[in-house]
Parts: sequence; C-alpha cells; structure tokens
Amino acid sequence: MPKSAVPIREVRLRPAFTGRGDETVEAEVLVGASGSRGRAAAPAGASAGKHEAVHLPPGGSAAAIAKFDASRLVGVDASDPRAVTEALRSIDPTPNYSLVGGATAYAVSVAALEAAAAELGRPMHELIGLYGEGGPAIPLPLGNVLGGGRHAGGGAPDLQEFLVFPENPRTPIDAIRANLRVHALVRRGIEKRDPTFPAGRGDEGAWAPRMGSLEALELVSEAAAAASDELGVRIGLGIDAAASALWSPSEGVYVYRREGRRLDPQAQASFLEELADRYGLRYLEDPLHEDDFDGFAEMTRWARARGVLLVADDLVVTNASRLERAAAVGAANGAILKVNQAGSLGEALSFAAACRARGYAIVASHRSGDTWDPHLAHVAVGTGALMMKSGVVGGERIAKLMELLRIHESNPGIRMSALGRRGAPGRHALLGRKIILEGRPREVRRDDRGIGGQAAAAGGPGVDQGAGRHRHKDRHDRENQVHGAVHS
Ligand code: PGA
Ligand code: ZN
Repeated sequence: MPKSAVPIREVRLRPAFTGRGDETVEAEVLVGASGSRGRAAAPAGASAGKHEAVHLPPGGSAAAIAKFDASRLVGVDASDPRAVTEALRSIDPTPNYSLVGGATAYAVSVAALEAAAAELGRPMHELIGLYGEGGPAIPLPLGNVLGGGRHAGGGAPDLQEFLVFPENPRTPIDAIRANLRVHALVRRGIEKRDPTFPAGRGDEGAWAPRMGSLEALELVSEAAAAASDELGVRIGLGIDAAASALWSPSEGVYVYRREGRRLDPQAQASFLEELADRYGLRYLEDPLHEDDFDGFAEMTRWARARGVLLVADDLVVTNASRLERAAAVGAANGAILKVNQAGSLGEALSFAAACRARGYAIVASHRSGDTWDPHLAHVAVGTGALMMKSGVVGGERIAKLMELLRIHESNPGIRMSALGRRGAPGRHALLGRKIILEGRPREVRRDDRGIGGQAAAAGGPGVDQGAGRHRHKDRHDRENQVHGAVHS
C-alpha cells in the first residue's frame, strides 16, 4: 500500500437515530499522529428507491456493527474517499451493502473525510474538490414548503413535495431568507383557506395540510409570488412527485389514493407537464417511476425545450452505472445525489463525476429522516452541485444551511450558483390556451398570476432549446379518458 497521507488509526461505531427516529449508525474515525477526529451519522429515507443501498441489514444497527470488521480500515488514507470505499468493499462486497448497511458505509466514509480535513486543516469541500466549471460555488438552497406522500399523513396531497428555491440570489443568506419567507407565507395561505389548520408538518418540516395537489400548488405559487415581490428575489417552483410511491406495477397506473386520480404513464407525464406549464415550474423530480428510463427520456425532450430541470432521484439512485444508462437514452438533465443511496462517499463522488461528464446538473440532497450533521453542505459545494436540497425549517435542515453560511464566510470570494433565464415560456405563453387539470378544461386567463411570468425564459446547466411537445395531443386524449373514468 502506498504511504497514506492521513492514515486511519481507529474506527468506532455506535447505534444512532435520525431526527425522525429511524435507527441508524454513527461512526467516529481517528486519524494521523495527533488523532484528529471525524464523526458522522447516516440519514434514512422513507420513499427509498428499490435500487439504492440497503439502509441496515436485518437486525438493525446492532447487527451492522457486529458484522463490521473495523481493522480493515486501519492504515487506509482517510483523505482519499476512493481508498476508503475500497476498504469498505473488502468488508461488504455485496452490490447494495446488504451485509453492513449503506448507513455504516455512509457514516465511516464521511467521518473519515471529516477527520482527514481536521488533520490537514482544510475544509471538507476542498478535499472533495471535484468542483464544476469555474471552481466551487454555493448551491441554490432548494426546500419543500408543503408536502404529502410518504412524508405526511392521510389527508395531505398525493404529490410528495412542493419545492421552492431562489433563482438568482445575491448571497446565501438572502437565499435562505427567501425560502423561509415562502414557508411562512404558505402557512398563512393554508390558514386563510382553513382556519382550523393545526399547523401540522411532514417529516422534512413542510406544511402538511388537508388538501389536494392542485390546491397545494396554487397556494405555494401565490406564496412564492408574494415573497418574490417582497424580497426582490426571483423564486422558482418545483415538485418532487416521488412517482415510484404512486406507481402500481400490477395495474400499470399511477394511483393518487387521496385525490382519486388514476393515470397511465402517458397521462401521468401529461398531467405533470401541464402543471409545470401552468405554474411555470422550473424543477420536476421523479415524475415517473424508478424503472421508466424511456418515459424520462421523452419528458426530458419536453423539459429541455422549456428550461425545466427534469431531475432523476429513484431512477439513478446515486449510482454511476444507472446514470450512464440514463445518459444513453437522454433521460433527465439533472440528478439527485444522496450519499447514502450509494453507500459510501467515494461511490457518490464517482456518480458526481459521471454527472459532470454527461452534463447533468447535480442536486445534492438530504433524506426525509436526517441527522444534525452538516456534511451535506460540503458535498454540495465540493461536487459543484447546482442546488442543495435540504428542506427549509427544522434542526436537521438548518444544520446544513448554517454550514453553507460558514463555508461562504470563510471563502468570501466563492460565487453563488444561479439558474439561467432562457427557455421556459412560463405562464404567458399559455394565455388563451385550454389546459386540462382534474379532467376539466380550464382556460388560462390574463389575470392569472404566478411566478411563472417572472421566471419566464429560464435555463440551467444541460438545459437547451429543443423541439416542442410532440405526442402531447395523444397524451391529453388518454388523460381525458382516464379522468373520465374517474370522474364519471
Ligand atoms: P426520502 O425521500 O428521503 O424519504 O427517500 C426524499 C426524496 O424522495 O427526495
Ligand atoms: Zn425525490
């Protein structure tokens, strides 16, 4: 073995818990002559993709810790995530970490890099140091202000996350304030519609009201427009449909249980595209289920023409081979990076490199069950992520946002990411056109307001002007049929 720059001396594991109470693993790694220390606890998902690393083996954290042969890490260079991954793979060679759990791989690999950073006196993001074009940048904070799906109770929307992000903030603190303001205004909007709203929130701190997805989007759009006017920051809207959770493989339809919608794949794509057009959405994550590469590819053609970021999460699960498969068919132009989906940090960084090589915008993301750790901010900055998806409120979420502020403070020259402005027609382009929502054609009126207008013509990395909405008439007809079946 070549002489280690920062040799690992000791690895300790302990059972731990996320802010939601999921069982997980925390690792402590000691390195170098002085015994510098790193510590990390893994997050846990609720709408986890079936292709991602197993969180914990049967028997939970106790079994994971019992099976973990920490001696294999001793002497390994903690400053080299790929060397740490290799050592982890010698302990657990299964493709999905079914022996020791992705949580263990996450905790050890992240703690190792934090220890190396401490030993070398450098920030962690510098050791990750892949960076995008133009060096490191502060990512745009992306957070959900309202939600449902698997993150909230029975009456909340079927779509999992209604997201906002500032498109061109001057500073990270402006960006954080913008998202917080929308979050506060969304609560007011809900209370206006339902004065008895008990202010319930889902797993990630987003409001969880009793309403359907369409009303939710209308409300978030109003709140974002108001915050945008107030603060003078362009605020983009997005949705994470988490469509694998809606997909019924046996029936071949997406089932919106609470809202009574049943959509075949074409109708699902159509439905979300119409929502995106109507509200000028700039961000759409997992509109289709985790194995529909071709469906994603078709939607990506639509998204590129509009400057929409079409983001794959469960489809690619932070896995470089799945990203290559997506790239081969042109599926998505952005990708979620969740280190624990891959397992180790080293594998997640290979994924980030693949994203960069293939022109995918990176969205470094938290999990719904997350810990108080700040490391996500370093992963986002270090991989040159366009966005950091980390929620808006709550201790686990603010921990990552605060770390962004600290990184910015110690690197004042570091620039802010921004989303370009070309491409998306937004709401203006739809004036006078009939669009179909909930099966009822509805005309877009001149007095319809929303940030789509302001955000008109936007673009982002990997976003270009492409062809139009071929095949859409087809989709609309099918959607009508599906809706007809539901509503008649
Ligand atoms: P999870 O979902 O962390 O609950 O898996 C988050 C997401 O789908 O982005
Ligand atoms: Zn997602």
